Amino acid sequence: MKIQTKINGHLREDEVEPRLLLVHYLRDVAGLTGTHIGCETSLCGACTVLLNGEAVKSCTLFAVQADGGEITTIEALGNHEKLHPLQEGFWEEHGLQCGFCTPGMILAAYQLLCRNPHPSREEIRKGLEGNLCRCTGYQHIVKAIEYAAQKIGSPDA
Ligand code: FES
Ligand code: FES
Repeated sequence: MKIQTKINGHLREDEVEPRLLLVHYLRDVAGLTGTHIGCETSLCGACTVLLNGEAVKSCTLFAVQADGGEITTIEALGNHEKLHPLQEGFWEEHGLQCGFCTPGMILAAYQLLCRNPHPSREEIRKGLEGNLCRCTGYQHIVKAIEYAAQKIGSPDA
């Protein structure tokens, strides 16, 4: 099947198998390997991306379901010269160890901050319920998101 998508602002058209998962489309067809595959059973959140502004687990969707949609992956946030405040927060607050969960965490947090720019600790924890981390114990991840919320809210962000 032919599908059209806009990934990180770039339009593309691809021929895909109907059963190809969105996460495999992103990694293997579009070459965006920042989106990780953890469990492939919708539990871990490592594969989280934004589809039309909504955080989705890309292992739970087929690529054909994203036809006509806009997808944002971790590659769209910041760059080596200028990190996104969320990336900066994870760096400054030691929000990662192995980093495997981090792209998904950041995109889940991105959606959270779009909807609620000043979340409480509980709201941050709730917003990350679908994302698992095996390394950090979550404390530092919560602090990283608080850091980003503060940074985004400050006039010189
Ligand atoms: S790989 Fe998609 S939720 Fe774990
Ligand atoms: S930093 Fe290793 S799984 Fe989260």
